[in-house]
Amino acid sequence: MTGPPRDAAPAARRLARVPAALDARRFAAVRALLFALACVPLARLFYLAATDALGANPVEFVIRSLGTWALVLLCATLTITPLRWLTHWAWLARLRRMLGLFCFAYATLHVFAYVGLDQWFDGTALGADILKRPYITAGVAAYLLLLPLAATSSHAMVRRLGGRNWQRLHRLVYAVALLVLLHYAWQKAAKNDFATVAVYATVISALLGVRLLRWLSPRRLPAPALTATGIRRGTGR
Ligand code: HEM
Repeated sequence: MTGPPRDAAPAARRLARVPAALDARRFAAVRALLFALACVPLARLFYLAATDALGANPVEFVIRSLGTWALVLLCATLTITPLRWLTHWAWLARLRRMLGLFCFAYATLHVFAYVGLDQWFDGTALGADILKRPYITAGVAAYLLLLPLAATSSHAMVRRLGGRNWQRLHRLVYAVALLVLLHYAWQKAAKNDFATVAVYATVISALLGVRLLRWLSPRRLPAPALTATGIRRGTGR
């Protein structure tokens, strides 16, 4: 018995059919789709709140949901560069800023939910919690490092800082990823729940590991400076 004919084109050829540069209309469509997708978790939270379906502990639900999506978007942002190396799709670089800003937006809402809904903007209680619970300390450190990245994400800031300095500053994202992982693992350790931590740890190790391998590679080409659009000058990617 023979099944339906399998697609004979190897994966690499299928990938190559997507052009390295998309025309403006297609790129806008991809970006709009990604934008809409990134809004879904927030819309879902509003829907659940409006229908009184946030569960027995709504504050915890909201904080955890926003934190989880900030982490997922951080991983998505870190995926762009290795994906670009693999596919040579230059336009991917132009989606990275939007994903990074969505990560920052979810992280900010997560922090506000904790400060406002959990701690009632009580500075003394907040200070005590940051000092007492190491996972909160790690979260604060991660968020503080996210701030300069968000503040310098615009094209104007890339120009102002210069491509190389901007790149150096944005390497802070690796420290953010490790601190968020610590923030997550520390709180789950208290509940002896390491299943999802292991998944995120694997993803983040792979995303950072592939960069380290490339950096250590003896045949590594000198990295050309970034243009304001985040595309490497002279390489088209
Ligand atoms: C000022 C900084 C931060 C504070 C005070 C903070 C606080 C918290 C709190 C209170 C929880 C809930 C713990 C629980 O009830 O079990 C939490 C969970 C979490 N946070 Fe944060 N956080 C901060 C920064 C971040 C950042 C920057 C990210 C990601 C980019 C993040 C990702 C997460 C994740 C993934 C969870 C776990 C959600 C789950 O249990 O499924 N946090 N955080």
